[in-house]
This record gives sequence, C-alpha cells and structure tokens, in this order.
Amino acid sequence: MNHNEQLTPDLVDPMLRGRFGRPYLWSEECESTQDALRDPSLHEGTVAVTEHQTAGRGREGRTWEDAPGRSLLLSLLLRPPASFPVQQLSLVAGLSLVEAIDAVAETSAQIKWPNDVLLDGRKVAGVLLESSEGRVICGIGVNVSQTEEELPSDARVPAASLRTATKREHDRAALLVELLARLQRRYDEWLDLGLALFVPDLTRRDALRGLAVTVGGVSGTAAGIAADGRLRIRAKDGTVTLVASGEVEPKLSRRGPGRAGSRNDP
Ligand code: BTN
Repeated sequence: MNHNEQLTPDLVDPMLRGRFGRPYLWSEECESTQDALRDPSLHEGTVAVTEHQTAGRGREGRTWEDAPGRSLLLSLLLRPPASFPVQQLSLVAGLSLVEAIDAVAETSAQIKWPNDVLLDGRKVAGVLLESSEGRVICGIGVNVSQTEEELPSDARVPAASLRTATKREHDRAALLVELLARLQRRYDEWLDLGLALFVPDLTRRDALRGLAVTVGGVSGTAAGIAADGRLRIRAKDGTVTLVASGEVEPKLSRRGPGRAGSRNDP
C-alpha cells in the first residue's frame, strides 16, 4: 500500500464495487470538484476526484482548504426523484461517510448534525450539497494524512486528519472505494425506505445529543434527530422544536451526566 499514490483512474477503476464512480473523472488539480460535474449530460453516479483544489468550497460560503495529495476530495452526481426531500441527503451522505471512515481507519466517528464528521470532537470531514434542476452534487472532503501543521488552525470547529486522530497513515484509495460503496447502499435504502430507517444509526453517532446548542436562533438541548432528519431541540420547559437546517453553535456547557467526547465546541 502506497499512501502517497495519486487516485488515478488506473488505480481506482479496478477497485470500484458498484455503479457509483462510473464514470470516474480525476484531475491533479482543479478549482473545485463541484464544478467538474456541471455538464448536464452526465449521469447519476459520476464522480469527480482531485488531488488538490485551488478554490474548494465549504458550507455557508466558507472555503475548504487542503494540502495537495493529503485529502480525499470528491463530488458525486445524484439525480433523486423530484418528490424526494433533497436536504435529507446531508444525513445520508454523513452517515455513509462515518461508516466508511470507521471501516477503513478503525475509528468511532460521530456526526455533528447535519453532516460534519468528528473524531474526538475535531472535524475530519464535511459534506456540501449543491442542487439545481433535479441534479444534486454531493461534495465530500476528508482530511486524511495532513500533519497538525498542515491543518487549518483557525477553523470554526477544530480540525483533525485521520492521521492526527489515529497516529497512523491511511490509504485514500481504500477510503474512496469504501465510501462510494456505502454511499450507493445508503442512497438506495433512502430511495426505497426513507430516512426513518437510519435514525437508530444516526442516534448512536450523534455528537450533539445532550449538548446545549443554538441553531437558527433556537436554543436548548440537542435531543436527537427526527425521522425526517430535522434536529430536535428541547427547551427548558420541555417543549421540542424541530430545526430543518442551519449551523449548530454548541455552547461550552453540557447537559446530562457522563457524556463522552465533546471537544467540538468552537
Ligand atoms: C463543509 O464541511 O463545509 C463542507 C466541505 C466540503 C468540501 C468538499 S471537498 C470536495 C468538494 N469540492 C468542494 O469545493 N467542496 C467539496
């Protein structure tokens, strides 16, 4: 296993297990893989991967930085039926991502609703959904082998890589093919059975549960993820508000005894 190997088609194509990743579009450098899938003739499952982005995008207009060859940077084209709530794909992708990371890096990753992936409270991966005209471009960035010095020091949520979190190197190609296989399985399950099926797995991996949070002006204790993907926030008087989207601002205080983890307070 060569950890510095580029994710070229001749390496990745023979490893692919399903329809996601076909065709597989690779570049050594691009502005953003999100822009490599704009051609309307591309079909579902097309994946763009690069070694380095010069203008990587994060959620809420933020940038996504990488050190060349150290991250997994990909975009996947999806075309869900018009009646499907596209926003739920954040959680579908987030869950697939934690499962793939755990499988390859032998970790216990958590989801910070809606789709940040945390290891020991530090962000190792994120998902960006961009949709228009029935097409959803699901962008995923994973910090794989950056050193502490190569990670952004001013991130809203402190950043980690799989390497800094586990003190070991990890194989990007193995992570890529595992992720695509899991994305395909979870996406198909979502189309067939809906998001409610995922709630037990999301609950087990919910980094926010029991924490005091504010999102979209609503403050209270994070009380799990509802069957439709909204975040449940319980106020002091016991009333529960369901929040559909937004950036979670965890506060430093924590509710409930004995919760593990929780260094994700920005
Ligand atoms: C976030 O957590 O804010 C989402 C980050 C998403 C980054 C990935 S990297 C591949 C794809 N191309 C981009 O420009 N952004 C996404």
